[in-house]
Amino acid sequence: MNWVSCALMKRGLRAPALVLAPMLGLLVACHHETPSDDARADGEKIFGNVCARCHGADGKGGIAAGGATAPRNFCDHAFQTSRSDQDLKTVIRKGKGGMPAFGDLFSDSDLDGLVLKLRAFDPQKQ
Ligand code: HEC
Repeated sequence: MNWVSCALMKRGLRAPALVLAPMLGLLVACHHETPSDDARADGEKIFGNVCARCHGADGKGGIAAGGATAPRNFCDHAFQTSRSDQDLKTVIRKGKGGMPAFGDLFSDSDLDGLVLKLRAFDPQKQ
């Protein structure tokens, strides 16, 4: 192998390494920094997949089916202050009117994430 092809090979190898190194760094940085980041991401996902169909992706609720009480508007600050985190978790587990009881479907960490998601709708959230 002459020195030209050797140099080319080295350069060829170095370029992807230079591109990959910062990307790996990013991956590590983005990967689950704290448990609460995990919970937040889970809450976001679960809300979108399960809750948004009744509550709306914007959390504003919708029209009640069959005369039941319509889902609450989570963007209402008064609603947010009237419920503790525990109240919200209890409703998710036990249900309420047209709100299905999810029982043990969600882990405690899922519930934390859902509460974070619900609280994020509060327009006056500090
Ligand atoms: C089948 C439709 C439906 C789905 C799915 C649903 N909800 Fe509800 N939810 C409702 C309705 C209807 C109410 C209003 C109940 C009432 O006030 O009588 C409600 C009320 C609530 C409340 C307010 C209860 C209170 O304190 O007054 C919370 C919090 C809530 N839902 C969270 C969720 C979360 C989180 C999910 C997803 C895991 C979810 N809901 C999925 C229909 C739904």
